[in-house]
Amino acid sequence: MDLLEIRQLSLNFGGIVALRNVHMTVKKGQIHAIIGPNGAGKTSLFNCLSGVYVPTEGDILFEGKSIIGLKPHKIARLGIARTFQNIELFANMNVIDNLLLGRHIHMDSGPFSGSFFYGKALREEVGNRLKVEEIIDFLEIEKVRKQLVGSLPYGIQKRVELGRALTMDPKILLLDEPAAGMNVEETEDIARFVLDINEELGMTIILVEHDMGVVMDIVDEITVLDFGSKIAGGNPREIQANQKVIEAYLGQED
Ligand SMILES: Nc1ncnc2c1ncn2[C@@H]1O[C@H](COP(=O)(O)OP(=O)(O)O)[C@@H](O)[C@H]1O
Ligand SMILES: [Mg+2]
Repeated sequence: MDLLEIRQLSLNFGGIVALRNVHMTVKKGQIHAIIGPNGAGKTSLFNCLSGVYVPTEGDILFEGKSIIGLKPHKIARLGIARTFQNIELFANMNVIDNLLLGRHIHMDSGPFSGSFFYGKALREEVGNRLKVEEIIDFLEIEKVRKQLVGSLPYGIQKRVELGRALTMDPKILLLDEPAAGMNVEETEDIARFVLDINEELGMTIILVEHDMGVVMDIVDEITVLDFGSKIAGGNPREIQANQKVIEAYLGQED
């Protein structure tokens, strides 16, 4: 069974068609890229998957069940976590606290309930802290764990955001342009972490990315969007040789 199936998904904003009849499936364990020119609908698709937008038509099945109409926090708890095209962290909190906040959606007791520091909640909190430290080790950000996020270099902030999504223990991780604005070294680092997350943590990943070096290197399958429509799907070799894709997108790269 596919972990995720997007069926004939359409999304309109008044007269603007952001997505038109998009169909795609993602198998468990895959790294799947969504590529296409600016305005193609990539972020809109992520917003539908994470419950930020409700599609105009179509369905999204996660583990065989429709998630249409579910609120973002519900979808996150089911196991779909994301990062944003523009970093959305709390700049004046440190790294540990940003990650703990991500983790808190897992707590039955909830961070703001009266019994926060007692009994079950206390045990959960200890577990949360251990989990957060594990992720900090995994992403090699121990040195900055107590620093305010806003004071960190951009590439490291992107890594912290990745960490925050990981704290939710998702089944699918949605990464919106994880390498955007990064230098060569930072880009190589992030590509390596994406691969490690997939291989070592066994997470399925959907990635929106403009850096074709990264995409072609690490992904199993690619869906190409153009003006809200899917114009191609296949493995990196097939996509690179696809005339439609070259005309709409890849040809402009050089
Ligand atoms: N909240 C919104 N209101 C109106 N139009 C939107 C909104 N979000 C996205 N769009 C439009 O949908 C189209 C797809 O945008 P987007 O999904 O951000 O593309 P991409 O991420 O591929 O660059 C664009 O024409 C954009 O202007
Ligand atoms: Mg976008």
